[in-house]
Amino acid sequence: MDVPLSHVLDYAVDEMVGGDRDYLWHHIKPHGCFQTQEQMIIVSGKGLTVTDIRGREYLDATSGGVWCVNVGYGRESIAAAVAAQLKKMSYFAGSVGTIPTIKLSAKLMQLLPRMGKAYYSNSGSEANEKSYKLIRQAATIDPQRKGKYKILYRDRDYHGTTIAVLASSGQAERKTDFGPFPEGFVQIPHCLCYRCPFDLTYPACDVRCARVVEEIILKEGPDSVGGLIVEPITAGGGIIVPVDDYFPILQQICRKYGIFLVIDEVVAGFGRTGAFFGHQHFDVDPDMVTLAKGMASAYEPISATVVKQQVYDIFLNDPADPGQRLNFFRDISTYGGCTGAMAASLENIRIMESENLVENSRVMGAYLLDRLRELIDHPNVGDIRGKGLFCGVELVADKKSKQPPSETQVGAVVDAAKAEGVLLGRTNNSLPGFNTTLYYAPALVMTREEADRMVAATQAGIEAVFGA
Ligand SMILES: Cc1ncc(COP(=O)(O)O)c(C=O)c1O
Repeated sequence: MDVPLSHVLDYAVDEMVGGDRDYLWHHIKPHGCFQTQEQMIIVSGKGLTVTDIRGREYLDATSGGVWCVNVGYGRESIAAAVAAQLKKMSYFAGSVGTIPTIKLSAKLMQLLPRMGKAYYSNSGSEANEKSYKLIRQAATIDPQRKGKYKILYRDRDYHGTTIAVLASSGQAERKTDFGPFPEGFVQIPHCLCYRCPFDLTYPACDVRCARVVEEIILKEGPDSVGGLIVEPITAGGGIIVPVDDYFPILQQICRKYGIFLVIDEVVAGFGRTGAFFGHQHFDVDPDMVTLAKGMASAYEPISATVVKQQVYDIFLNDPADPGQRLNFFRDISTYGGCTGAMAASLENIRIMESENLVENSRVMGAYLLDRLRELIDHPNVGDIRGKGLFCGVELVADKKSKQPPSETQVGAVVDAAKAEGVLLGRTNNSLPGFNTTLYYAPALVMTREEADRMVAATQAGIEAVFGA
C-alpha cells in the first residue's frame, strides 16, 4: 500500500527556518544564538555530501557531526532492510528472541570471536551503563568479586550523557552543573604523549600513564575495584592513540587484581580506525566491549554491550538461594528490542564487508594523516595524530609553550572551512580551555579527492584565522 508521505518529506523553507527557531531545542549549543543566527538545516545526504535547506552542499568530514554515519549517507539497501523487517515484525521486547537479533548476535561473535553474548540497548550511554550494572551486580552475586563495585575511568575519555556514565567522564566540561554524581568512580590519567600528564617522553617514560593505574588500585583497595573502562582511541577528548605497550600493561594490571576491562568502542568500532574494532590494533583482550554509532551507521539507534562467556556465566551460576532468583541480570531496555535497528545493523555490516570499507579506512586514513602532516610547519599546528579515518589536528597559540589558542579562534577555523564547503569537526564542550583539536572522521567510503578537499579547507581555515 502506497501512503502519501508529504506530511513527513515536503516542506516550505520559511516555515522550517521559523520552526527550527521556535520549537527545536538543539543539542549542546548556547541557546542565545537561536534568536539571532539562522541555524543549519540539513535536508539530504549522499556519500559524504550533505545538502542544507538553501541548497548548499558540504563535504562532511564528521560523519554526521558525531562520527557515526560510517557507511555514508543515502544507503537505500539499509532503508529497504529496515522497511522489510518492520513490515514483517516490527518489535518485541528483548526478553524474547527475534530473527534479526539472533542473526546480529551471531555476526557480532564472528567479528569479536573472544566474546560470548550480546545485550542490546539503544545508545552508547546505555551500553556503557549496562557494563557498570554488570560490574556492580557481579560484585554482589559472585563470591570472588564481593565488594568490587568501583569503576576506573580515564581522564579525557567520554562514555555518555546520563548521570551514571557522566560520573565516569574524564571531560570536566560535560560534568559541570550535573552533580552530585553516584560514588565509586575513580579517574586515571590520560595517555596523550603530546601533553604527557607526567611531563615525560616515550619510551623513557616506561608508559607511566599505564603503570600508575596499579598505584591507584592499591590506594583505592583492590578489593573494591571491579572495572576499568577506556576508549581504545579517545575520541572527543582529542583523538588520542595510545602507544603500543599501553594496553598490554593495563591488561596485565586488570588481570592481576580481577578487574573487568571494558573497552568503549562506541566511536572507534565498525571500521573507524582501520580495524573492525579499535582495540584490535593492540595486544589486548577485553572482558566487555560496548558498541553503538557505526553499528548501524546511525540509520537506526542501536547499541550493544558484548561480553565474554565468563561474564555471562557469573549471572548463570549464582550459588545463592535459588528460591530468590535475583541472580540474573535484572535489566531491560524497551528499544533494545527494535527489530528495524537490528536489520539496519546487519545490512550496515554487510555493506562494510562487501565494499571492504575497513580496509579503505586503513588506506585512506593513512593518506589523510600523511596529507594533514604537511600542515605541521604552520606555527599554530601543534600535533597531528590518528589511526584510520580518525584523525586530529591540535591547534596551539604558541608551538613552544603549547599554550592553546582561544576556542573562538578554533571555531573560526571551522567556520572558514565551512565557507570552503567542508564541515570539519572540533572537540567541543569537553576539556575547559583545550577544546582545540580539529577532527576528521569521515564516512569510510572517502576518496583521495575528498581527503584532499578536507586538507585544503583546513589549510585555508587555519590561514584565514592565524595567517599563513
Ligand atoms: C566514546 C563514546 N562513548 C559513548 C558515547 C555515548 O553515546 P550516545 O551519545 O549514543 O549515548 C559517546 C558519544 O559521543 C562516545 O563518544
